[in-house]
Amino acid sequence: MGRVLFLLLWVLPQVWGSSEVLGRSFLFRCLQITSFANSSWWRTDGLAWLGELQTHRWSNASDKIDSVKPWAQVKPEAWLSRGPSPGPGRLLLVCHVSGFYPQPVWVMWMRGEQEQQGTQRGDFLPNGDETWYLQATLDVAAGEAAGLACRVKHSSLGGQDLVLYWDGSHNSVGLTILLTCLALLFMLILGLTLWMRRHR
Ligand SMILES: *[C@@H]1O[C@H](CO)[C@@H](O)[C@H](O)[C@H]1NC(C)=O
Ligand SMILES: *[C@@H]1O[C@H](CO)[C@@H](O)[C@H](O)[C@H]1NC(C)=O
Repeated sequence: MGRVLFLLLWVLPQVWGSSEVLGRSFLFRCLQITSFANSSWWRTDGLAWLGELQTHRWSNASDKIDSVKPWAQVKPEAWLSRGPSPGPGRLLLVCHVSGFYPQPVWVMWMRGEQEQQGTQRGDFLPNGDETWYLQATLDVAAGEAAGLACRVKHSSLGGQDLVLYWDGSHNSVGLTILLTCLALLFMLILGLTLWMRRHR
């Protein structure tokens, strides 16, 4: 029972966190299996799902709960490019979002706080390492591209949306790479700190 309580305490804030970001909620289910062979032999095992996704399991043999997948831990990276011109004097802005897990994500072209209703979302494509790729395009008049931005919300970003501004050139790619490197460095330092603390 202690384990189940721990699981709930640990998981619920994350469930709430992600449902807030994505504007969707997911059902969280736990299954506990206790088997009794006779009066002296018994064992308890368990499974947990978030929506259709199995997230955790725990076994009688160990005192710890294992994460089945690195859910809500893999951040997307995003970059912009110019697609094939839809017509004279028009531009197709393409926002690429890749490497995120789990799948639910929100991608929108914005002008300030205003969502651009012309945003077209492509299909989710698998990256081959269980992460996903998605692109969102916007067809605009060439003179109206300045000031547009692609905004990405994902459960792994903890409310810190990715925002990439269209500036005509592709400087924003450099910024994405820089931010991704900073995020990786931060995770590395965090990991090392935790590791050193554990092994002291
Ligand atoms: C209880 O069940 C286990 C597993 O089937 C078995 O190994 C053990 O010998 C049984 N104990 C008794 C007292 O029957
Ligand atoms: C399951 O765990 C309990 C508590 O740790 C232990 O007493 C019991 O023997 C375990 N059962 C099996 C089958 O290993």
